[in-house]
Amino acid sequence: MAAQTTHAKRRQRFLEAMERDGIAILPAAPERPRNGDVSYPFRQDSDFLYLTGFPEPEAICVLSAQSETPYTLFVRPRDPERETWEGRRAGEAGAREVFGADAAHPIDSFEEKLPELLKGHDHVYYRLGHHPKLDALLQRTLETLRARNRDGVKVPAAIVDPGAVLWEMRLRKEPEEVEILRRVCALSAEAHVVAMAFARPGLNERDVQAAVEYVFRRRGAEAVGYPSIVASGANATMLHYVQNDAPLEDGDLLLIDAGAELEGYSADITRTFPVGGQFTGPQRDIYQIVLEAQGKAIEAVRPGAPFLAPHEVTVRTLTQGLVDLGLLEGEVDALIEDEKYKRYFMHKTGHWLGLDVHDVGAYFLDGGESRPFEPGMVTTIEPGLYVAPDDEEADARFRGIGVRIEDDVLVTEGGREVLTGGVPKTIEEVEAACQREASLPL
Ligand code: GLY
Ligand code: MN
Ligand code: MN
Repeated sequence: MAAQTTHAKRRQRFLEAMERDGIAILPAAPERPRNGDVSYPFRQDSDFLYLTGFPEPEAICVLSAQSETPYTLFVRPRDPERETWEGRRAGEAGAREVFGADAAHPIDSFEEKLPELLKGHDHVYYRLGHHPKLDALLQRTLETLRARNRDGVKVPAAIVDPGAVLWEMRLRKEPEEVEILRRVCALSAEAHVVAMAFARPGLNERDVQAAVEYVFRRRGAEAVGYPSIVASGANATMLHYVQNDAPLEDGDLLLIDAGAELEGYSADITRTFPVGGQFTGPQRDIYQIVLEAQGKAIEAVRPGAPFLAPHEVTVRTLTQGLVDLGLLEGEVDALIEDEKYKRYFMHKTGHWLGLDVHDVGAYFLDGGESRPFEPGMVTTIEPGLYVAPDDEEADARFRGIGVRIEDDVLVTEGGREVLTGGVPKTIEEVEAACQREASLPL
């Protein structure tokens, strides 16, 4: 199975990157109760998914290069009655035959088998702090093994965070991952185009959210990559507004920050457009500055350039624009130095993107310098300007305007590839897309 080849290669690389005497213990995500006996939709742990492709909860992956069975999965056993209620399980046979495990056991036997598994290993790759019960079990087991030290039992000396190895792997996307990201970005882009035509005065933010998420699913996405932000008018000045329940008013802007999740990979797109199809003068002024900053920031993404380069050019462009509009006063350099722009631009310009919307991977080198881009890394570029509705110091014309423009950018050998280029961005293109007839793909 192709997917399993991909996962097997990753496990091999991970095993090679671990210490020779290392053993990795990677749990699946826990199910989280919502209310009563209902859980939140299950989403697999990204590290676990990356290495196994195994979609079920209550599972643990154990990897050890020196074991006769380097890849062991502990899984929920088959149970016809439970499966009638909760859905199919792979069981131990499925774990071996479909998911390529060298050995598979029922999850309930993990505690009993753990001492034997740890034997002969000096480094345990395990993330403390995420699974209190497993943390406690590991501690208890190590304590028991220490007590048997006099019998010659070798006790692991170090617990190492697997992220140090795994997150460097996840940061540099393989061609298969790039292909999935291209697809999830394209289908998410389509949803934003649909939303521009769909939104109009008289609808509610949640109606537009429904249209966007309908397109995601209609095009094959399994979920949203993060809660959709559909923020009209001054709601757009709240960065993580997710209530999405206000009526859309003519004359307001609508900021949509939404991305689908496909095979675990997330897109992350923001567009801001006029509900009534035409920007007002002050909205244009703010929009144009953000657009200019975004264009320059995207150009700053290239191999060898530091991760912070797009942020620096963004800050300079936004600050200059804020001065031109009279929203800031003074010398651009001094305003940057004093971080005065933060009143209107309070977040960073981007973040890694992949299985997690805010994906893993270090942003700084050990010496503290900003890390250089390398081909295969994927970052968002998302400048914005937000003028609070009650900002008495800002010119009243600009109050309550929030604009963000966000695209997903793959670093390539030659520079960059914008994965979300299919969504209009210039004022003319956006207005034209807003004025088009609404239609949902059937
Ligand atoms: N959607 C979350 C972000 O843009 O970072
Ligand atoms: Mn976003
Ligand atoms: Mn983002």
